[in-house]
Amino acid sequence: MAIVGTSVHRNDAWAKARGAAKFTGDIRLPGMVEVAVVRSPHARARILEIDTSRASQINGVLGVFTARDIPGKNLVPLVFQDMPALAMDEVRYHGEAVALVVGDTREAAWAGARAVDVKYRVMDAILDPIKALDKDADKLHGNDNVFRRWTVKKGNVDKALQNAHLVVKGTYHTPYQEHLYLEPQSMVAWWSDEGYIEVHGSMQCPFYVRDAVAAVLGLDLSSVHVIQATTGGGFGGKEDVPSTIAAHAALASFLTGRPARLVLSRDEDILVTSKRHPAVIEYESGFDEQGRLLGVKARYVMDAGAYATLSPIVLWRGTMHAAGPYRVEHVDIEALAVATNKVPCGAYRGFGEPQIHFAFESQMDIAADKLGIDPIEMRLKNALEPGDTTATGQVLKKDVGLVQALNAVREASSWDSRFETPGRKQGTVRRGLGVSAVYYGVGLGAAGQALDRAGAFVQVMYDGSAVFAVGTVEMGQGMVSQLSQVIAQELGVSIERVRALPPDTNLLPDSGPTVASRTTVMSGNAVLNACARIKQQLLEATAGILNEPVDALTIEPGRVTGKNGAATLDEVLHRCFLERRDLASTGWFKSPETTWDEKKGQGSPYMTFAWAANVVEVEVDTETGVVTPIEIWAAHDVGKAINPAQVRGQIIGGSLQGLGYGLMEEIIHKDGLMQNNRLSQYIVPTIGDAPKINAIIIETGFEHGPYGAKGFGEQPLIGIAPALANAVYNATGKRVKTLPITPERLFAALHDDKTVD
Ligand code: MOS
Repeated sequence: MAIVGTSVHRNDAWAKARGAAKFTGDIRLPGMVEVAVVRSPHARARILEIDTSRASQINGVLGVFTARDIPGKNLVPLVFQDMPALAMDEVRYHGEAVALVVGDTREAAWAGARAVDVKYRVMDAILDPIKALDKDADKLHGNDNVFRRWTVKKGNVDKALQNAHLVVKGTYHTPYQEHLYLEPQSMVAWWSDEGYIEVHGSMQCPFYVRDAVAAVLGLDLSSVHVIQATTGGGFGGKEDVPSTIAAHAALASFLTGRPARLVLSRDEDILVTSKRHPAVIEYESGFDEQGRLLGVKARYVMDAGAYATLSPIVLWRGTMHAAGPYRVEHVDIEALAVATNKVPCGAYRGFGEPQIHFAFESQMDIAADKLGIDPIEMRLKNALEPGDTTATGQVLKKDVGLVQALNAVREASSWDSRFETPGRKQGTVRRGLGVSAVYYGVGLGAAGQALDRAGAFVQVMYDGSAVFAVGTVEMGQGMVSQLSQVIAQELGVSIERVRALPPDTNLLPDSGPTVASRTTVMSGNAVLNACARIKQQLLEATAGILNEPVDALTIEPGRVTGKNGAATLDEVLHRCFLERRDLASTGWFKSPETTWDEKKGQGSPYMTFAWAANVVEVEVDTETGVVTPIEIWAAHDVGKAINPAQVRGQIIGGSLQGLGYGLMEEIIHKDGLMQNNRLSQYIVPTIGDAPKINAIIIETGFEHGPYGAKGFGEQPLIGIAPALANAVYNATGKRVKTLPITPERLFAALHDDKTVD
């Protein structure tokens, strides 16, 4: 293939690199007003009174609005309908929206927001998810504070653990992780007196935004027109949150009759937007003498925060993967998403998987060490292979690249000659190697199957240029460029002349959310489907030019060739024009069927899995507890790399986010109030912290993927923290079971002479 499989330049990069791309903060409309949000200073309180009189008198303030001004439902529709757009009688987390202030400038709106007097009666907050499960705990949700519970069950795990040669027990704690996309949440909305509203903004899920604005304003879906603006990063943080931001901007526009913009400040963005769920995870893993995994028992408790938002499905993904990418006959997984008075957690690259991978990959490492088996050998012994059955009962097809990935990182890192038995190293500064195995179910899976479809529109112009639009979005991950490659490959047009139109909820079919590493497969196939119809037109026209049957013709870059000759694309397009052929087409794709039997805790939850292995090398200063990552080797089975440079980019970027998760990122609360919602206090890795990252691509070919490609964009983050923790153990002999591995935490482990739990 000429185009697919090559590292063509991103065709959306130029506009972004020179500052021409229009982000929501760049949008200026005549008469546009700015919105500021009054937010709760308490983790939990009754709202006794909202006095807007002082705010209303501030110069430039055009309106102050509360829940009572909402014309439709005061609920943001997500998985459950439990989260209000504006708090009504009670606030449930620090930063929850209480009122909107509209000003003719941002300064006026913010001054107004500071002047709204809200009287609260502070209540006792529930901050610990484990305590929230106590019988006599105060109830935030239902009669047990559990938003959702999922289980996976297979065989008889208690018996398997009784008969095991070795049982490893461990409790793991994982922290919040903030997305810190470069562009904060932002939306512009303008209400037309003709009865419809237009919304432009930063988002992953235009159709979720449409549904939320329609619900809150009480409009038909067709009266809410959502168009994604250039979006500066998402990582999951723009999956559900933009629904609320858009609802606020839309309310402000509807209630004032002016175009209204809401751009969160960075501090506000960190304070109130979703994050990766903190978790408490208990594992018991049983092994035979040879290191074969016999049984896994786990309990995965997620701190969901004040409202359910996406927690039920984040938890589902975590539960589906909780036995690890291994053959295991006896499994009992219980997972719970628990309500607390903290920020509602949601989607973040990996979606419930990084937490449990940290736990079960630490378990595997502990077992390997106790049994005296090399950690990579240990994983190879148990690794799922083509034809195997997963812990949920899914039979795997041929596209299982885990063994290749493990072998690839083993070789690339010179593991066999460099890995030394843990805990024997001497000296102040010690090096160590750690490994992890990873799998990731591609797409929404059985729990979201109804949403797992996508639509596309492709049009070739008579001059050989082309436009396309899909219902999923570009947020920096490279979708536009990959889909342009598909169009160039299929139709022979030049990739430089393929232009993407923004996702538009009125012109494109509901294509579900841009999440779950689903876009390459879903939109890629939808675009292929549209291209197939156009291709047929091109081939029929060429058949007339070359006097050859359609099936003898091949589309190549810029021409169509037959057995005896060739026609240039220009000639073919001219003929199409004269013959009045339709060179515009829609396309559609729905995911292959997936199943989940909730009662049995078994099923085939995903259309396929991506697979990966990571080796991380670290240097630990045992006097300070500082861990310096030296090098990472990351091998990923992506089915087929449509653009290898972009695949490597995903691996490198995800690895760096994984290092942040493993080493430094944490949100600190005091009495339920977030303490470090600032860029200066929430520390993420920069390019200066990046070790050498070696990206290795493995291609096993997915039968339903475009050209065999799978989605894998989330996977690079998932396995870094466990490989890092395993490397720290290898260097020091100390096992850290709580992330992040900050110098303070590791110092305590090294010098208090005890393992940190
Ligand atoms: Mo993604 S974390 O499924 O938006």
